[in-house]
Amino acid sequence: MAKNIQAIRGMNDVLPAQSPVWQYLEGTVKDVLAGYGYDEIRMPILEQTALFKRSIGEVTDIVEKEMYTFEDRNGDSLTLRPEGTASCVRACEEHGLLYNQTQRLWYTGPMFRHERPQKGRYRQFFQIGVETFGMATPDIDAEVILMTARLWQFLGLSDSVTLQLNTLGSNEARARYRDALVEFLSERKDQLDEDSLRRLETNPLRVLDSKDPQTQAVLVGAPELHDYLDDESREHFATLRDILDSAGVKYEINQRLVRGLDYYCKTVFEWVTDKLGAQGTVCAGGRYDGLVEQLGGKPTPAVGFAMGVERLILLLETLELIPAEVLQTIDVYVCGVGVGADKAALLLSDRIRGEHPWLRVQTHCGGGSFKSQMKKADKSGAHFALLLGESEIADGNVTVKDMRGGADQQTLAQADVSAWLAEHVN
Ligand code: HAM
Repeated sequence: MAKNIQAIRGMNDVLPAQSPVWQYLEGTVKDVLAGYGYDEIRMPILEQTALFKRSIGEVTDIVEKEMYTFEDRNGDSLTLRPEGTASCVRACEEHGLLYNQTQRLWYTGPMFRHERPQKGRYRQFFQIGVETFGMATPDIDAEVILMTARLWQFLGLSDSVTLQLNTLGSNEARARYRDALVEFLSERKDQLDEDSLRRLETNPLRVLDSKDPQTQAVLVGAPELHDYLDDESREHFATLRDILDSAGVKYEINQRLVRGLDYYCKTVFEWVTDKLGAQGTVCAGGRYDGLVEQLGGKPTPAVGFAMGVERLILLLETLELIPAEVLQTIDVYVCGVGVGADKAALLLSDRIRGEHPWLRVQTHCGGGSFKSQMKKADKSGAHFALLLGESEIADGNVTVKDMRGGADQQTLAQADVSAWLAEHVN
């Protein structure tokens, strides 16, 4: 027998039982974003490879090792997007959305990185991302951070995530710091791990990210980024901190936070949790004032972030923070047993939906005994089952059964049942 074909490693199906949780998270995020006046943008999943090389950086892990890149039938090099920022900038430029105006945008969808799959790290994963354009002042940095803090509050996650904050300064300041760091580390090459030695040549700031204990020990005495900051970045950061302090948003300054993508300047941040093991960053972003110009546009300040949907869902599940009503997707289950009952059940269901469109009504299809239909009604999670037997049909009635056991079974006229349900389904 032929072997069953399976999904690609690191690419997950979201099964029907999980979908309500996804919808709950996505719905809550959308409500928060709407509350701040952000508009949705949808970009293609495939882009020209050059877009990501030019924006994320040639010597980043993503571009060097993780992109799904292939030649299409025309011989063009295409890449499945590893993130949304570059695509969003491209789309905005292409459609003139950055000309003399500000933008507050969000998107959601799958991203692709050929990483080693583990809990919270996948090869196809979903992000909900936010990008803002045309605002150079720290108020917008603060707004996007406050928006995420509000989302954690809505989801009940405020006590489970912490904000790590840093500033990378201007490009010039960072270049000066980079020189100092390279000089310092070059004198201590013998104490660095292999990965850090490689990064020292290609992307030295990323050495700060090393998890190797010996490299960490070397870094204790390394030059500090904040000693090299330019005045403007320093002031920008101070204003941002002042707003966050006044809004009561707590954060930790982490001078080692440099991010794995090259386009950032000034503010960078990550929301992290210690409840998910190694993949604890649930949301990350920062300012990227140089990227629009780098991709061929006019200099345009920009700030954004993206959150990992799977990681947030894992966190909500781990902490048992999914409201019970999210998992209940049906209010009323309509059963019919006997001659003409299938048709009567369908017609009654449709009548109820017509009169109260918000009621979620599932009609039993496929026949079966009264007992087996009641079993299905129970499994559906519905609050009420409606029963149509031959006598009910003959009398124009319906029997209502409270599946949660609260009230006695009762018989109502079919004409009255919608109004009754609307009153009793909470
Ligand atoms: P990033 O840090 O590469 O930033 O990804 C953002 C978030 O996506 C991470 O914090 C994590 O929650 C999730 N994520 C990343 N890789 C994986 C993976 N392999 N499996 C599961 N989840 C993952 C960016 O992508 C930037 N574009 C964010 C940004 C937007 N900066 C400015 N604007």
